[in-house]
Amino acid sequence: MRVAMIGVGYVGLVSGACFSEFGHDVVCIDSDAARISALEQGEIPIYEPGLDELVARNRADGRLRFTTDLMDALQGAEAVFIAVGTPSRRGDGHADLTYVYQAAGEIAAEISAYTVVVTKSTVPVGTGREVARIIRSARPGADFDVASNPEFLREGSAISDFMRPDRIVIGAESDRAREVLRRLYRPLSLRDTPILFADLETAELIKYAANAFLALKISYINQIADLCEKVGADVQDVARGIGLDGRIGPKFLHPGPGYGGSCFPKDTQALMHTAQAAGAPLTLVEATIAYNEARKSAMADRVLQLLEGDAHGQRVAVLGLTFKPNTDDMREAPSLTILPRLQTAGVVVSAHDPVGMGEARRLMPDIRYCDDAYEALAGADALVLLTEWNAYRGMDLQRMRALMRRPVVIDLRNVYRSREMRKAGFIYHSLGRPKWR
Ligand code: UDX
Repeated sequence: MRVAMIGVGYVGLVSGACFSEFGHDVVCIDSDAARISALEQGEIPIYEPGLDELVARNRADGRLRFTTDLMDALQGAEAVFIAVGTPSRRGDGHADLTYVYQAAGEIAAEISAYTVVVTKSTVPVGTGREVARIIRSARPGADFDVASNPEFLREGSAISDFMRPDRIVIGAESDRAREVLRRLYRPLSLRDTPILFADLETAELIKYAANAFLALKISYINQIADLCEKVGADVQDVARGIGLDGRIGPKFLHPGPGYGGSCFPKDTQALMHTAQAAGAPLTLVEATIAYNEARKSAMADRVLQLLEGDAHGQRVAVLGLTFKPNTDDMREAPSLTILPRLQTAGVVVSAHDPVGMGEARRLMPDIRYCDDAYEALAGADALVLLTEWNAYRGMDLQRMRALMRRPVVIDLRNVYRSREMRKAGFIYHSLGRPKWR
């Protein structure tokens, strides 16, 4: 099947590459000529494990192409995906649909034979219908259907999430459109991946409802972690204990410094606005958004409290800057709130991240960045672990201890074991776990 993918951001590039791996003939289009020519040279603009090999293999086999020419890409394409960005609109937090509607207008101008126009970007409820209206009003006779196919992949594990999803959600309202999408996902349906067919609005809402629920789940365990600290309980055991209940499930119950990334903060905001505008406010989501913001600042305050004496002039080493491991993405990372707050209090921060330092440098130029994690620890009064990169799990504790001025470790991802840390001579603080454990 011939597929066109408009937008080579995270979702577009991963989805395009994975569809070509399914055996489809995929053309990815983007108006950013520099990005397209880089991709044509085999340069991948994002850090995502396995993506470079996947792109290289499918390009070599002739199933994956990159172009800036929409007309060329749409020739013979049965499905055209819109995977352009939907950033939060400055000021009001609504999803900015300019690029989506622009793509709809461009598709309308080029459409020839029957095409299914599919929104892959996370778009607010009602967008699919507006895309259909735009195409119909520009080209009243055009033979097309609009469908919604939200993507649930996570950064850092995007390819396996795409190839082995829990489910595929398709909002489509004609048999013809459903048939095209069923054929597109045939390799996954052969593996018994459930495909949920729904109407457009329902498919669009499923994506937001899922992301908001996960954000809520994380915030819930973060609050439970705070409570555990007050009452002397262990949040890891609480998470295990509740997660074994099949109705709750064990995932997304890891306490941390607050969720970040390109999806949860933006999508919860957009859903909140949709719900308010519809007259059915989602107060639980509103509370989650406010709590998550407050949590990031509270984590900085906790670090300041745990420094012995006046924070001014003390040195803090921060390990991990990206919003999660295995990505170079700094969007809405807790580090962007926590580090400036420490600096405002007079703390001297040195930091390390395996791949995020380029972007971090641009966003927070006043930090001392170190190419090596141990280098960041030299002379530190405390270590703050912010992102649970695997590289930090197996560090040499004796070497760490010897490098630091004071042996204080503040582990905001609970990656170390308290007993082991105390044995190595550290004063160890984690989230929601009793000190004596
Ligand atoms: C998320 C959704 O998981 C994915 O389905 C959707 O398509 C896009 O948004 P992503 O943002 O890539 O994916 O990362 P995810 O692994 O979900 O983590 C998001 C944030 O939540 C990170 O900051 C992470 O550290 C935090 N998190 C996650 C926790 O603090 N605790 C957890 O238990 C899980």
